[in-house]
Amino acid sequence: MEIKLLKEDDPQLREVSEAWNFETDGDPTELVKAMTKIMFESGGIGLAAPQCGVKKRIFIMGNTEKLIVCINPEIIESEGESRDQEGCLSFPKLWLTVKRPDVVKVKYQQMNGDVIEQELGGLPSRVFQHESDHLDGICFDTKVAKLSLQMAKDRRKRKS
Ligand code: CO
Repeated sequence: MEIKLLKEDDPQLREVSEAWNFETDGDPTELVKAMTKIMFESGGIGLAAPQCGVKKRIFIMGNTEKLIVCINPEIIESEGESRDQEGCLSFPKLWLTVKRPDVVKVKYQQMNGDVIEQELGGLPSRVFQHESDHLDGICFDTKVAKLSLQMAKDRRKRKS
């Protein structure tokens, strides 16, 4: 499967994705394989299908030791608040401090269609929320104040 990473000025990144339908969309293995390749090659810890031009509600997160595939993910409950730096493969070298709930209770389907429910905290919680946002066409640059975004972009420019 040929897919490629879309970059920040691509309007497709701002579109809402559709549910993965196991009956009509079939087996997601090929897509997941192609996404995993892109994520590892670019050194990321999360990647959503719409970042690769595929408008489906599916993302991957993790590393070479543990990779989680989340299909039709939902955030059922969220609690607390945390601020931390985030990056995004579609926004190379841009680092933004984003405020998000701390702990989330989530639900998603695995590759075989089984439904998983779990509670996430820390980095996995943050990545899950960042990637879920992509499925709704929300990129992290809209989660910070305009001034903070401008300052982060200026910093990136100075470093490049
Ligand atoms: Co991202």
